[in-house]
Amino acid sequence: MFQINDNYEKLPGSYLFSTIGKKVASYKEAYPEKDIIRLGIGDVTLPIAPAIVEAMLKAVVEMGTEEGFHGYAPDLGYEFLRSAIVKNDFEARGCNIEVDEIFVSDGAKSDSANIQELFSTNCRIGVCDPVYPVYVDSNVMAGRTGTYNSDTGTWSKVIYMPCVMENDFIPQLPKEVPDMIYLCFPNNPTGTTIPKAELQKWVNYANEKGSVIIYDAAYEAYITEEDVAHSIYECEGARNCAIELRSFSKNAGFTGVRLGYTVVPKDLKCGDVSLNRMWARRHGTKFNGAPYIIQRAGEAVYSQVGKIQLKEQVAYYMNNAGLIKKGLQEAGYTVFGGVNAPYIWLKTPGKMTSWEFFDYLLEEKGIVGTPGAGFGPSGEGYFRLTAFGSLENTVAAINRIKQM
Ligand code: MLT
Repeated sequence: MFQINDNYEKLPGSYLFSTIGKKVASYKEAYPEKDIIRLGIGDVTLPIAPAIVEAMLKAVVEMGTEEGFHGYAPDLGYEFLRSAIVKNDFEARGCNIEVDEIFVSDGAKSDSANIQELFSTNCRIGVCDPVYPVYVDSNVMAGRTGTYNSDTGTWSKVIYMPCVMENDFIPQLPKEVPDMIYLCFPNNPTGTTIPKAELQKWVNYANEKGSVIIYDAAYEAYITEEDVAHSIYECEGARNCAIELRSFSKNAGFTGVRLGYTVVPKDLKCGDVSLNRMWARRHGTKFNGAPYIIQRAGEAVYSQVGKIQLKEQVAYYMNNAGLIKKGLQEAGYTVFGGVNAPYIWLKTPGKMTSWEFFDYLLEEKGIVGTPGAGFGPSGEGYFRLTAFGSLENTVAAINRIKQM
């Protein structure tokens, strides 16, 4: 008789954004006439930039020719894309990263869920609280998190690093040392970030304690302030302790196209064992490479014209972020984020819980956001709005909120 991986049974509820999707769908079914503005999941709305569409079309045509046809992609990614990544994302920022340290994938969500496979199930994880739920859920599935306390919303073996307004959303170095430390800056969900000097402290801590940092830099394109690192490899010593996850979803609008990459430096070792070799082995066994057409699209992200067009898209979303932030402040809300990230994090009014505020916004104003509690216990009392909507919807949402 087969047995299941009963760690799955420990997971409370469904994936956060599935829960929200279902709630909104049932509301919409009950009130089909309601005009709903979706500022919940961080999904982009602008069409793919012309330079990228052109590259994809060219690759599609190539695939229909004998000489241009491509079968299985190299499992670690095409050299043309990996070189463009190294040159633009790392060399240009003074980071020493080599082509064979880049692993192209179908996106950062799957990489952030899969990367934990490299580590023993005895490892303890440390996460910011609130946190992107994939980091915790994937470790629950792997059996690394202990038992769930539904009163506190915490797992017995997870080390939580609260990020709340009282500490400016800056996680403190934990006394109990995690083996695996998940960090995401600019941060999802709070939309805040930390200065490079603060990130350096984490790198020093990890090297001193023998921890690994899994650094999610999916939102780096939204950084506007000078003293914020775009990559953890801008910090000294990061090659010895950090893996970085990158996405094309938010900087290039690839949420539906799917492309990302992970950096595993060859200096990152456990004793004599190279994590770069382990990840290459894992990737080779479990993944057949991102499609050629999509990797050509990724290459176009780094072309001269591509860069200009994507800068405009990022500016469009950041303009939305500014409008949401200003509008909410004018309406009397306490608001964070939105300066180096496309997320706005607000305090829920009065004593409203974040799910109560979710219902209130949906039912009274026809606006969907994300309740802070869905990201962890310290997210209670907060609420996230994304800047990825259209300008028109963003302005309409703010006007509705102001009329409260
Ligand atoms: C979010 O809304 O937090 C993200 O868009 C979800 C994701 O990137 O998977």
